[in-house]
Amino acid sequence: MINNIVKIHWPDGKYSEAKPDEDWLHAAKKANIDIPTGCLGGSCGACEIEVNGEIIRACIQKIPDKDNLTVKFAMDPYW
Ligand code: FES
Repeated sequence: MINNIVKIHWPDGKYSEAKPDEDWLHAAKKANIDIPTGCLGGSCGACEIEVNGEIIRACIQKIPDKDNLTVKFAMDPYW
């Protein structure tokens, strides 16, 4: 059953909610966050973010079915 709400804690105290399996890029937009992207195909690494301590590529991965996720930017935080 997919009706869990995932609470996403972004850098700078931003917050949004999403559903499991939603796209990361879409969820970021809802929090007014732009994840930098390049290839959108999983090969360049521009979109890498750290989610609960694990580096993922936002363009090809979906939001996992967890209650709380904490996101950090893997790259230079001042982009
Ligand atoms: S945009 Fe290139 S890996 Fe995600």
